[in-house]
Amino acid sequence: MNNWGIVGIGRIGLSMARKMSDKSINLSLYDKIFENKSDPILEEKKLYPELKKVSVFNDILNFIESIERPRKILILVPSGNPNEQVISKLITILSDNDIIIDAGNTNPLISYRNKLKIAKNNILYLGIGVSGGTQGVLEGPSIMVGGDNSAFKKVKDDLSLITSKTIENSKSYDFFGDSNQGHFVKMIHNGIEYVEMQLIASIYKLLFDSNNYNNQSIAQIFEDWNNNLNSYLIDISTQKILEKIDDKYLLEKIDDVAEDNGTGRWMLNYGVELGCSLSMLSSAMDTRFISKLQSERNEINKNIKQSSKKYKVDVNSLKSAYKFCSLVNFIQAFCLINAANKTYNWNISISKVLNVWSNGSIIKSSLINDLYSNYSVENILSDKKIIKDLNHCKSDVINIIMLSLKNDISIPCFNDALNYFNSISSNSLSTKMIQAQRNFFGSHSIKIK
Ligand code: 6PG
Repeated sequence: MNNWGIVGIGRIGLSMARKMSDKSINLSLYDKIFENKSDPILEEKKLYPELKKVSVFNDILNFIESIERPRKILILVPSGNPNEQVISKLITILSDNDIIIDAGNTNPLISYRNKLKIAKNNILYLGIGVSGGTQGVLEGPSIMVGGDNSAFKKVKDDLSLITSKTIENSKSYDFFGDSNQGHFVKMIHNGIEYVEMQLIASIYKLLFDSNNYNNQSIAQIFEDWNNNLNSYLIDISTQKILEKIDDKYLLEKIDDVAEDNGTGRWMLNYGVELGCSLSMLSSAMDTRFISKLQSERNEINKNIKQSSKKYKVDVNSLKSAYKFCSLVNFIQAFCLINAANKTYNWNISISKVLNVWSNGSIIKSSLINDLYSNYSVENILSDKKIIKDLNHCKSDVINIIMLSLKNDISIPCFNDALNYFNSISSNSLSTKMIQAQRNFFGSHSIKIK
């Protein structure tokens, strides 16, 4: 009998199978596409010796029968319909106290619904967010768990085997609360990831379009910055800047349309629901949306006067502006967690979240460690240090935004960060007038200072 089953052997599923098997966890594997195949992962078994021990099934019932009870079934199929179908099928064939572990990027609202559906059948549910991508999973992913606490106790030793060392010397997984809170924390992770990706993309664009830097010199700047930023996203961006296809840089060959898997949209919905500003994420998402209007953009571009640009960028100022924006990105995300804790009566600890993200995750960086160690992250808006740091970098953000405006370069997220800081640090907002206008036509009462 095997200890665990994995359903969904795509890229992440395969990495997870390799990692778990490497740690001597006995595995059964099943994927819908294995049906009618006699030895579905023969090639992979040749490539990766650690997979030799796994049992592979092309029939879901035989797969289930091969796992000891209570069964631990890890689902790694794409969120949405495929994921829902697997859960619906498993409910009909699993036994009491078996555990369904949904490791996809599932919308927290759906994982809540799934938990209720699963519980009716006396099956336990864990919704876990897994960060790290195919390589990160092999090296030790960051895992954010929510769901049934007794189920968590049954899987935690194995999670400990496959995760990485964190900043507080624990392993990069943790339990954040019942039902959908693991997927919620993963959704927040992804929102931060989208903004960080956009900031790096904006910086690359500003430098490249200045005609003073080429791919080599920009990669060098990123590499220098990363000596102390230690950011996974800066690191992979540097590698991508230098990547070539047929003697041409990749970034000169690929188009500019960026897709998304939905996690950023869900987070924006939570922001609206809870009344929290997520202006940086909104701007990062807008940029992806606008990128899809490719033919429209190309047409409009023909009617715009193009001036050939050459401008100087103060790289130190740019680094400081980047720090400012990254800090605001985390502030907005932390405020959403706080609002969710308050409204839903949750108890997600931001320090615990940062600890789990400090290794194995896509957003791992020195900034995460710095926030964890040196700021009051649970009450970030009352933290004097972060306000001092932002104030210190503010003039650099203004300089960088002015440079971008003068040269018609769109650098999404920078302006949103500055605007947020200006608003959050103001004791007299323009909403004074909104209050007065509402009073005029809506007969809303007026609040006097
Ligand atoms: C991770 C990532 C990952 C996510 C991709 C794709 O932590 O490993 O967040 O889970 O699915 O980054 O996101 P988009 O396709 O929406 O860019």
